[in-house]
Amino acid sequence: MNSLINYRVEGNLALIGLARPPVNALGQPLRAALLDAYERASANADVQAIVIHGDSGLFTAGADISEFGSEASFAAPDLPSILVRLTQSSKPLIAAIGSIALGGGLELALACGYRIGEAKARLGLPEINLGLLPGAGGTQRLPRLIGAEPALDMMISGQPINASRALQLGLLDRLADSAETLLDSARAFAAELLASNAPARPAERFAQPAAGLPADFFASFRASNEPRWKSRLAPRLVLAAVEASCRLPLEQGLAREGELFRQAEDSAQSAALRHVFFAEREAGRIPGIDADLPLRSIEKVAVIGAGTMGGGIAMNFANAGIPVTLLEQKAEALDRGLAQIRKNYEISVKRGKLTEAQLEQRMELLQGTLGYADLADADLVIEAVFEKMEIKQQVFRTLDEVCKPGAILATNTSSLDVDAIAAVTRRPQDVIGLHFFSPANVMRLLEVVRGKATAPDVLATTMKIGKRIGKIPVVSGVCFGFIGNRMLEPYNREAHRLVLEGSTPAQVDGVLTALDLNMGVLSMTDLAGVDVNFLVRDGNRAAFANDPSYYILGDELYKLGRYGQKTGRGFYLYEGRDRKDDPEVVEIAERVAAELGVARRADITNQEIHDRCLFMLINEGIQLLDEGIALRASDIDLVWINGYGFPGHVGGPMHYAETLGLDTVLAGIRRYRDELGSHGEMWFQPAPLLERLVAAGKTRIEKI
Ligand code: CAA
Repeated sequence: MNSLINYRVEGNLALIGLARPPVNALGQPLRAALLDAYERASANADVQAIVIHGDSGLFTAGADISEFGSEASFAAPDLPSILVRLTQSSKPLIAAIGSIALGGGLELALACGYRIGEAKARLGLPEINLGLLPGAGGTQRLPRLIGAEPALDMMISGQPINASRALQLGLLDRLADSAETLLDSARAFAAELLASNAPARPAERFAQPAAGLPADFFASFRASNEPRWKSRLAPRLVLAAVEASCRLPLEQGLAREGELFRQAEDSAQSAALRHVFFAEREAGRIPGIDADLPLRSIEKVAVIGAGTMGGGIAMNFANAGIPVTLLEQKAEALDRGLAQIRKNYEISVKRGKLTEAQLEQRMELLQGTLGYADLADADLVIEAVFEKMEIKQQVFRTLDEVCKPGAILATNTSSLDVDAIAAVTRRPQDVIGLHFFSPANVMRLLEVVRGKATAPDVLATTMKIGKRIGKIPVVSGVCFGFIGNRMLEPYNREAHRLVLEGSTPAQVDGVLTALDLNMGVLSMTDLAGVDVNFLVRDGNRAAFANDPSYYILGDELYKLGRYGQKTGRGFYLYEGRDRKDDPEVVEIAERVAAELGVARRADITNQEIHDRCLFMLINEGIQLLDEGIALRASDIDLVWINGYGFPGHVGGPMHYAETLGLDTVLAGIRRYRDELGSHGEMWFQPAPLLERLVAAGKTRIEKI
């Protein structure tokens, strides 16, 4: 038998063990082997029942994602047809679910007449996260098994459910106590079914999946969720498929699902989200660092600074069960910081995301201190003090004195030179940047900034710990602003400049939110603080001394105390959470433009706004890749998706550039270089790598 399947016959039972590590992805070879094994069991007169299981425990993570978008995804035998065949079995089929049954994996289980899961199993239909819908009968069979509403919830959220919830919903027929006893329990289940002459496939529990739901259930579901979906296609297709399950007989419903699935698979959105899936996994691979490099052990963490940032960072570790010492200079500030952390957890308790007991457990993991001596046994220390080189260097001198040898010393700077910080210690090899994004307990991005001297095991250890605390760690080299903030600079500069030239903030932001960005960059500036932006810029004035219009509007707003949301005025006016346009900003722009001799135009189009902002963002990203600050284009995409609200279904700025066409981006940059006078000449210089890529006829962004 094919090595992708471990096939055994034990008396009257056939066991089909899926054996394609690491996750039994149902690619064509495994599909063929599965069908083969099933036909064999089916044809064997001695076999009366069949158990399908994961040979090493884990059931399956579904379709092979790398096949999507190619012929292979539906290459014979295709999954939907195999599953139809399985549902026609005259012998009871039992899915024995260990660890996970996701996507096509859960659909395989649904094609079986019976399902047993180990207590820790997770079951889900996460296709929506890949811009897809379940395409192997899931949208039709799940509503018939558990009812339309919970089925729709599972597909729209994409979140797996645990085994006990699956039992409650009727998705599992029974539970095995543990992964170890799963197969024995499945054998016993099969014996019982045979002894009781159970049908090969029990009758559908919800022959009318929408029975009991209001007549307008789907219409109102759509109406209340569409604003949140923005222009995402997949949720709409999921909804259409589940609706079809309530209207059409199974066979027609399956055909409809097939059509909708193809539409999703062929979409640019799904291609983008699949790119993101693999980008996340790729980000952990660092050229030159072996996967088996011994790592440093991180059992105790210390965070310096109990402000918003330090507190948020500390929470990440407490959430992962790692003890944290939080250091402040004054008792008052420390108490305030700890109280704020408790408050944050209390909000989670109120929302039902945390129990009181968990809150207390987490608070117990957080110890406050006023003395550096208490940091002596920390394995990882993260500094989150005021963003000023001298202050950070002073902290690192002290850490060098008090920390044990081998401790990893990290700075949370968002723009300062990590090498200059490392240089004040006698152990620059142990120093690294860990740039968390605010709010640090929520935002998933973690820029891991590798200094000149950072040791490989320090980098690998911090990448690993980043994952352990639920972040998406991305390696960046040292430069002003690292990957994210350095790219933000030209992107936001164009946004500021467009307002100076005649656009309104709402027009600029509107173009960006039309692309499904969470926020326009000017609203984001108001949120982050016009003052914060000003102060960062102020530390780097020499870099743009030749451009008197550089972020001039930001400087003007700063001078007027219009710091953004926190002062109720910035690029917009704020009343509570409501944002309004402010004619005064237009007046300021008119005045400053006149002073600088910048011509104002009434004919700035949305296309111009799009191209100037986005092409500058892309251009800087390509430059970062060329400089080696980013290891790969997909890392840059992860930074922007997880740190700056760039939509995953657009794929990040680098992937977006590829979909627009690198030649289009280059032509746009050259056009504005020529059309925008001295501003164009100064700032719209194509990155040399972009020029090389286009000249070489490349369509993907890579270093050449
Ligand atoms: N297809 C192909 N490769 C997959 C895969 C899949 N469905 N799921 C995981 N992998 C690969 C990963 O790329 C990774 O490969 P590398 O080691 O080469 O990077 C490896 O398996 C391990 O994955 P993770 O690093 O993610 O390991 P983890 O333990 O953190 O997570 C997981 C495991 C929960 C299964 C996670 O990988 C996951 O969520 N996978 C995707 C599941 C999914 O979306 N399934 C639906 C597929 S679409 C579908 O099935 C459509 C349909 O209707 C037919």
